Amino acid sequence: MAIFSEEFNNLNDLFIHEIETLYDAEKRLTDSLPKMAEAAHDSQLKSGFQTHLGQTEEHVRRLENIFAQLGYEPKRETSEAMKGIISEGEDVASAKGNDAVRDAALITAGQKAEHYEIASYGSARTHARHLGFNDIAQTLQKTLDEEGDTDKKLTDLAERGINISAPQGEPTHA
Ligand SMILES: [Fe+2]
Repeated sequence: MAIFSEEFNNLNDLFIHEIETLYDAEKRLTDSLPKMAEAAHDSQLKSGFQTHLGQTEEHVRRLENIFAQLGYEPKRETSEAMKGIISEGEDVASAKGNDAVRDAALITAGQKAEHYEIASYGSARTHARHLGFNDIAQTLQKTLDEEGDTDKKLTDLAERGINISAPQGEPTHA
């Protein structure tokens, strides 16, 4: 259901919506990360995607625990944003051409996903605090920290050379 057809009468309604949307986003990532790992040429980038798959599976379990703590059944609310980010990433993953350039593009795609999650977990954590769900806020913070670490690792990989080894080329116009 799209966000505008929902009813938000209080912060709790919004918080549940945020958790349901994150649940969908994380589930989509567990399907997509193996494809990103498969497409990565650089061994550190490949293992980075694989490591983050394991973390993402844990993020899904944490969200399921949060649903249980709140007395809700886990429910997926389509994350249109993550759907789009993943679709862009999978286009990149299947692109032909230079391996180092594709790796540079895979890093970009991964960072777009991380930044979406960082914004979403940060907001959900703050709302959990306002609602007095302190344990849940801590759990969300833990995931938020891991998303931040992954983002930094991707930046390091980009700066350590994957992008540098990509041929620069000249701007061309269609
Ligand atoms: Fe995650």
